[in-house]
Amino acid sequence: MAPSAIPLPPNNILQELDLESQQQQQKNKCLCLKFHDDQQMNPFESLVDEIKRALGPSSGIDSADVDVEDLMSIMNRYQSDEIHWGGFAHEDLSRNYTRNFVDHGNGKANLLILVWTPGKGSLVHDHADAHCIMKILKGTLQETVYEMPSETAVNQPLKAERVSTFGTNEVTYISDDIGLHCVSNPDPKNIAVSLHLYTPPWAARRGCYCFCAETGKKHLVQMSNYYSVHGKVNRKCDN
Ligand SMILES: [Fe+2]
Repeated sequence: MAPSAIPLPPNNILQELDLESQQQQQKNKCLCLKFHDDQQMNPFESLVDEIKRALGPSSGIDSADVDVEDLMSIMNRYQSDEIHWGGFAHEDLSRNYTRNFVDHGNGKANLLILVWTPGKGSLVHDHADAHCIMKILKGTLQETVYEMPSETAVNQPLKAERVSTFGTNEVTYISDDIGLHCVSNPDPKNIAVSLHLYTPPWAARRGCYCFCAETGKKHLVQMSNYYSVHGKVNRKCDN
């Protein structure tokens, strides 16, 4: 004798079961996508992505359009961990620091990681009429801010306005409206690492001026050459 057929539930119950199953599948798909995204981007990569979104699509760059507060708060929120950005940070103790290219921010910025040799620093420089936001990723950096000299000043020492020290995860800002600055790593033994967002990327395109602190004399320096690009060392780098 053939086994008797198992009675099927009424049609409306079947439809509900089908809907439930579709909803569960959608939930699983969302979790899977989220998991996939988290797997793809580490928190530093997410920071770069967030900066790019804040800068907007690649058209019409003007330093007046930049929301500095927003960019600073995005950079403030990131908690630095070398495991996230170590691939970009190449040190070279034969130089004062290395400049490592990370991203061009939709053509609107220049995002660099600088690795500072212990006890070494930069020359006094301007920022080519752009905004510069700096976040310390590792160690400590000291910044000396100078008054912007007048165009008519000749052979005059620069006037230092303040000296500040920034530790890991701190964020600071400078532009030509604030003045000139120089940055150094005061630690005699350990490197320091910082993330710099320059927007618009004028220094990379036109260069910036470096100044002699004693005489105020300035000279143009090209800034388009990097020690590494996307983690890969450029053996021809000369600055
Ligand atoms: Fe600077």
